[in-house]
Amino acid sequence: MKWGVIGAGGIADRRAIPALMKDSENKLVAIYDRTFSVAEKLGKKYSVPFFSNAETMLKSADCDAVYIATPVFCHKTDSLLALSYGKHVLLEKPVALNAKDGAEIVDAFVKAGKFVSVGYMLRFHNLHVKAREIISSGGIGKVNGIRIRFSCWYPRIENAWRQNKEQGGGGVIMDLGVHCLDLAEQLLGEEITLVESFYATQTFDYEVEDGAVIIFKTQSGVLGHIDVNFNVPDNASESKLEIYGDGGYVICNGTLGQEETGELLFLRAPQDGYSAIQNRTTDAPQKFSADGGNLYLKQFRDFAANASAEKHDYFFADRTVRIQRLVDKIYAEK
Ligand SMILES: NC(=O)c1ccc[n+]([C@@H]2O[C@H](COP(=O)([O-])OP(=O)(O)OC[C@H]3O[C@@H](n4cnc5c(N)ncnc54)[C@H](O)[C@@H]3O)[C@@H](O)[C@H]2O)c1
Repeated sequence: MKWGVIGAGGIADRRAIPALMKDSENKLVAIYDRTFSVAEKLGKKYSVPFFSNAETMLKSADCDAVYIATPVFCHKTDSLLALSYGKHVLLEKPVALNAKDGAEIVDAFVKAGKFVSVGYMLRFHNLHVKAREIISSGGIGKVNGIRIRFSCWYPRIENAWRQNKEQGGGGVIMDLGVHCLDLAEQLLGEEITLVESFYATQTFDYEVEDGAVIIFKTQSGVLGHIDVNFNVPDNASESKLEIYGDGGYVICNGTLGQEETGELLFLRAPQDGYSAIQNRTTDAPQKFSADGGNLYLKQFRDFAANASAEKHDYFFADRTVRIQRLVDKIYAEK
């Protein structure tokens, strides 16, 4: 699949474009950024034509699909623009500023028969795939709870769109929380139906939240808890994902991030009778390691396979709109 890029900033240059460049099945053919110097720098770096006008790129570049990594407030305009030129779109997360805009994007692609998906690349992590396999095969019995902790250090940066409510749609919930909600549905294989949250700006002086606790319940009654923070130093940010059932646990340490790292611990420990001593098992959990692959490359390959086969599956795109509805509800209740 031949790709154009709209928004050649942080994640595009750091992860997505290098992943495309490595792949024999996908090819980067053009780059657009509204800032000419950024477009020029990346165009030269990756030896492809560069543009500072998106329509000129869409008119002249021979691309089948567009990867969009602009700020959240640009997602709707940019994806509908790419669609108007008949392109499939892989849009960075979150889908849009709110669920209404997200639904408009997905509906427009469905109507036009072009494929759209959203960049929740954590679902491609080999240990998250493994966790889903264990859970769906009943490895930990009936699941009753999930906890996710995901954080980083994100201090004030002048004019940062992510720190501006109108441009980013919110703070750490819009940035890290959405990943966790998406991943929870992926791992549990069911929808989140109820959500509540406490959130605050605790450490920094920007207008969006830098810390949040989200609690939720799924269709079947699994209870979930998410902690997301912009105010935990990177060196202290231990990502953790724990899923408990009535027959054991799956725990992923260090799997939430831009690289396929970390480990998965799986303990199968069904229990029959009551034991007042409540001794912990001495059985060691089974340990699985990360493959060290490239999450963004896996995502491009999955997208290209889906889009080229013309068996467009909008399940994930629909899910991102549903996730956005949960986030809208959280912010509406402040
Ligand atoms: N999946 C992931 O791992 C991941 C990681 C980081 C960011 N993201 C997502 O990628 C998107 C981009 O994030 P980023 O961190 O790369 O942002 P960034 O600010 O580093 O880059 C955004 C780029 O878009 C360009 N741009 C185009 N139109 C613009 C406009 N009207 N205003 C401002 N900039 C404009 C900027 O020039 C810039 O080069 C966001 O949706 C973000 O949530 C995803």
